[in-house]
Amino acid sequence: MKILVLGSGGREHAIAWALAKSPRTEALFVAPGNGGTDGIALAAGGTSQNVDLDPMDAEAVRAFAQDNGVGLVVIGAEAPLVAGVADVLREAGLKVYGPNATEAQLEGSKDHAKRFMDDNAIPTAAYATFTDADAALAYVREQGAPIVIKADGLAAGKGVVVAETLADAEDAVRACFDGAFGEAGAKVVIEECMRGPECSMLSFVTGGKSFPMAPSQDHKRAYDGDMGPNTGGMGVYSPVPIVTEDEMARMEAIMQQAAAAVPEYRGTLYGGFMLTPAGPKIVEFNVRFGDPETQVVLPRLASDLVDVMEAVADGRAEDVSMEWSDEWAVCVVLASEGYPGVYEKGRVILGVEDAETMPGITVFHAGTARNEEGELVTAGGRVLNVVAQAPTFEEARNRAYEACNAIQFEGKQLRRDIGLKALIGRSSWE
Ligand code: AMP
Ligand code: GLY
Repeated sequence: MKILVLGSGGREHAIAWALAKSPRTEALFVAPGNGGTDGIALAAGGTSQNVDLDPMDAEAVRAFAQDNGVGLVVIGAEAPLVAGVADVLREAGLKVYGPNATEAQLEGSKDHAKRFMDDNAIPTAAYATFTDADAALAYVREQGAPIVIKADGLAAGKGVVVAETLADAEDAVRACFDGAFGEAGAKVVIEECMRGPECSMLSFVTGGKSFPMAPSQDHKRAYDGDMGPNTGGMGVYSPVPIVTEDEMARMEAIMQQAAAAVPEYRGTLYGGFMLTPAGPKIVEFNVRFGDPETQVVLPRLASDLVDVMEAVADGRAEDVSMEWSDEWAVCVVLASEGYPGVYEKGRVILGVEDAETMPGITVFHAGTARNEEGELVTAGGRVLNVVAQAPTFEEARNRAYEACNAIQFEGKQLRRDIGLKALIGRSSWE
């Protein structure tokens, strides 16, 4: 089968890498891709190819897919899903992995997601929604801090403020209504502040059924000790040793409740959980694979991803089955100096090939490109994902950091404490 993956992040490199391992993948296109997604060796022979296409341009994607006999289109990011790119492709008769626009509202509107959870008795933080600043401010004052302020629409992970003081909460409400997030902030969701460790559960969802993948834990803050601004994610590991069996069972049941309520959904549903003293509760749903969660989850998948994705895209729940490796996976993100703020691009990256020869190491590219001389250079905030697999968590962690040391570029920024709290145990969250 010929497969087209839409996107350019570490997530899409990991998806393409896993698809390339299948003997069923005859051709693999990544649009627009990055410095790592061009030339991945396919198990069936040949290599993957980057294609200069904008994932938001549904017509261009449709034309390319039809002209090139693509049998499956995998949509990586939320923006094209919310914009209805999957709908256009399906209407043209293409097979698509990823939900239609209606179901993508689970990520596209936080207000919609909260109502969905209420309607389906899914545990989540108490909330209220406002379209008016004065009413929102009055509510915040009545509730007091800590409290969480969220822009309703897509804001690339930046539309959430966990306000520890009333003054910060009021500032966040004003910023939203003053247009800090454009249209996304015209509606504001205000939530009770939950406490506890977070855990991501990605699930293959099709035919009203949920098939959970291995759990993982992201590190959203920029600096060690969970300090600094929120980022897209600075590191992740899988599985998550601090999650109890009871919590796992409850998370799986919640994902099944959600899947049953969206019978048309065909793609990945991402449950972002907080493990509160009252049990796991949903912080957010995403309608796609997580980034960087995918970089540790898919390397642990022992089954053929093409079989799984095709069954999901076809709505054949009865044919979805998966095996998982027992090995641990730890991913450390190498970012550009200044990320998540402003950063420079075009810095030469050395040592990736050396790192890849180290035991258990896979490097997934994110913001990388080739310059005119053919050198690998930085081209984004998150640059590389260094993933290590090993039989124990500690070994995976050590391997990941050794490989990070082998890779050099000017201004390389990384967290040195990925997975440290999990090694210490649950008490480190209290
Ligand atoms: P979101 O974009 O909804 O995932 O929110 C980003 C981050 O904000 C989450 O990963 C949490 O760390 C934090 N957060 C969001 N909602 C809440 C909440 N109700 N209580 C505590 N923290 C939250
Ligand atoms: N790592 C968080 C996300 O993908 O939304």
